[in-house]
Amino acid sequence: MLYQTTQEHEAFRQKMREFAESEVKPIAFLMDQNNEFPTEAIKKLGEMGLMGIPYPKEYGGAGLDVLSYAIAVEELSRVDGGTGVILSAHVSLGSWPIFAFGTEEQKRKYLTPLAKGEKIGAFGLTEPNAGSDAGGTETTAILKGDYYLLNGGKIFITNAPKADTYVVFAVTTPDIGTRGISAFIVEKGWEGFEFGDHYDKMGIRSSSTAELIFNDVKVPRENLLGKEGQGFKIAMATLDGGRIGIASQALGIAQGAFEHALEYSKERVQFGKPICQQQIVSFKLADMATKLRCARFLIYSAAELKEHHEPYGMEAAMAKQYASDISLEVTNDALQIFGGSGYLKGMEVERAYRDAKITTIYEGTNEIQRVVIASHLIGKMPR
Ligand code: CAA
Repeated sequence: MLYQTTQEHEAFRQKMREFAESEVKPIAFLMDQNNEFPTEAIKKLGEMGLMGIPYPKEYGGAGLDVLSYAIAVEELSRVDGGTGVILSAHVSLGSWPIFAFGTEEQKRKYLTPLAKGEKIGAFGLTEPNAGSDAGGTETTAILKGDYYLLNGGKIFITNAPKADTYVVFAVTTPDIGTRGISAFIVEKGWEGFEFGDHYDKMGIRSSSTAELIFNDVKVPRENLLGKEGQGFKIAMATLDGGRIGIASQALGIAQGAFEHALEYSKERVQFGKPICQQQIVSFKLADMATKLRCARFLIYSAAELKEHHEPYGMEAAMAKQYASDISLEVTNDALQIFGGSGYLKGMEVERAYRDAKITTIYEGTNEIQRVVIASHLIGKMPR
């Protein structure tokens, strides 16, 4: 199994790093403080052809591989976890289901502007009563001739209300469980489609997150994505890929915090020598570096499996679960190395510590990742 980066991957990483350092890092503190979306940086990413990294050029993408996409999310997250998830939610959740399940017409109409970065994408699955139990979806889409009437709402939607295109899941046949759920492409601006307030979050504050509210929204029949009743499987398959993105985000956040802590530990002198020469700090740094390397291998190997069209759901869940767990540990250790100074607003490690937490929660909590991994090992457990 391949999981090594090539020279091209590392050149691409360098390009992403330069972009992140010059366009995102200088504004990261203020975006965090002001709950502000990096509008200009995202526009520039689009102009550089980087909003559709893994999609074919014929649909406006960069035609690069899944590993390049993982590297891009990692490098953005190394300086700002919020910017990392904007790209991840756009590419993995807002665009991929259209690429994988859309008709040729849907791909031309919706995927192409998403991949070119002219539009932003989002994914509407979570509801107040359907979080980990995504099959508990209550939003309905009832067929009325040539359109579906969409009613209900979604919560915690990354990229809303900035996004233009939403892949939304709704019940088209009640009382038959997950097989009654269908997927739709819904456009911002349609009558009856509104947004709740932008959430005031603990971390990833440069990313926008809001509720979607549907009141008798007329969704044209041609905006059904895949077949009726296929929606839950589309959602699950999409999340398999999305988890590579979130794992990369978690890794990038932790990598950034680690680098700051390493540098600081070489400068900070206590007991007559730099603290990195105190064995307890050096061992902490050694453990942090080891965890980062393990997470990177897990993520890159899952990305390579996806790239080669091999089953990768279990490996993506392992990567997401492990990378986000160690992201919390590594950012915690990084802050510990900084001591009291790390606890101050304006310090990168303080922001990284807050940004890391969400990665254990969204795109399936880490408890759900273990459900997914276990079900691959021993089959689905009875309810
Ligand atoms: N790919 C394709 N099909 C799949 C699948 C997959 N990965 N996983 C399950 N399915 C199919 C099953 O084969 C089954 O098909 P049949 O009906 O033909 O038998 C069907 O889907 C139902 O599967 P389950 O019975 O296993 O479903 P379940 O109700 O027990 O749920 C679960 C399983 C894994 C817990 C699922 O509900 C889940 O993943 N929950 C977490 C939801 C989640 O990750 N939400 C994140 C929201 S998005 C987000 O967070 C984005 C963000 O902010 C950035």
